[in-house]
Amino acid sequence: MERFFCSNCKRSYSLQPARWRCDCGSFLDLEFESKFPIQKFLKRTPTLWRYREAIPIHSDASILSMEEGFTPLEEFEFNGNPVLIKIDYLFPTGSYKDRGATVLISKMKEWGVQKVVEDSSGNAGSAIAAYCTKAGIECDIYVPHDTSPGKLVQIQAYGATLKKVEGSRERTAEKAMEAVSKIPYASHCWNPFFLHGTKTFAFEVWEQMNWKTPDTLVLPIGHGTLFLGAYIGFKELKKAGMIKRIPKLVGVQSLSCAPLYQAFKNGWREPGPIEKKETVAEGIAIATPIRGRQILEAIRETGGEILAVTEKEIKVALKEMGRKGHFIEPTSSATIAGLKKYLKEKRRKETVVSTFTGMGLKSAEKML
Ligand SMILES: Cc1ncc(COP(=O)(O)O)c(C=O)c1O
Ligand SMILES: [Zn+2]
Repeated sequence: MERFFCSNCKRSYSLQPARWRCDCGSFLDLEFESKFPIQKFLKRTPTLWRYREAIPIHSDASILSMEEGFTPLEEFEFNGNPVLIKIDYLFPTGSYKDRGATVLISKMKEWGVQKVVEDSSGNAGSAIAAYCTKAGIECDIYVPHDTSPGKLVQIQAYGATLKKVEGSRERTAEKAMEAVSKIPYASHCWNPFFLHGTKTFAFEVWEQMNWKTPDTLVLPIGHGTLFLGAYIGFKELKKAGMIKRIPKLVGVQSLSCAPLYQAFKNGWREPGPIEKKETVAEGIAIATPIRGRQILEAIRETGGEILAVTEKEIKVALKEMGRKGHFIEPTSSATIAGLKKYLKEKRRKETVVSTFTGMGLKSAEKML
């Protein structure tokens, strides 16, 4: 049976829309048994919903889809190393967050929810707003006041109520939490249904690599929703006997805001307090990642690591990707700066997969 489960105190809960954290204060995971009938997948259109039996939505009638996913996996070369990059800015709202939003808001619809609250650095808010409008669900999106104007416009274009918060990303989350006593919290960091959407990243890579596993994934970490989604996806594939091993997970943070980099370097189980500085990579400027412990465990389990990149390295990578024909936002080029760092030290005899998470047009004003 599907349940919410707390890995901290081992309590579990029946599924309900208002339950967004454990009574002990920790985040919750979702217990769900995925199935992988490949022949069925192959008959379906190339969207992330082709992995239907591995996505925890009961009724097809609840599915809110804009034919999202199955993004291209393009070949690149960095420092003589071949790399495969998922072009995840090619989603309806211009970022990979649609992977999580299509599943989480479909679940909200299945539950009959009328209104939700979310807080975000902009992209998750845009994605939640887009799927809510398709569902006819009202939503309030809380964002920091200095979020890229493109994202602010986008959230409102979908008809959501924009709540700009003076202060940090952390203050924004606090404001949203004050509002969720009566309204369900469609939080991309707290609600595990979001991760059961982002996990489709793993399924797509597996299929696009001819049902094989890459050696290494290089992915961004703010709250780590793509990172943990990819981990869950590959873990489910391994549990179902579809693959033999989970790829090594390499995370990238901005040096200006690197709580998990610091924790990993020091061998800590949880991220500790950090001094947060300004960064162009607004999407990963997360000082207190909710699932920090889980991210560190996934990295250690897979023999991975965390890299931190400077503002200069982020800007250089942004320009370089433009010259390769990919206009991405600075948060995405932080990942590429990390990828370059990972590949620089030595020639890697590994299949490496990374991603372009967000479209450049979203942050055009800031880039100017
Ligand atoms: C473009 C982009 N890339 C990466 C991330 C990082 O995602 P997460 O916070 O889930 O690690 C974000 C988050 O907002 C984003 O907008
Ligand atoms: Zn608990």
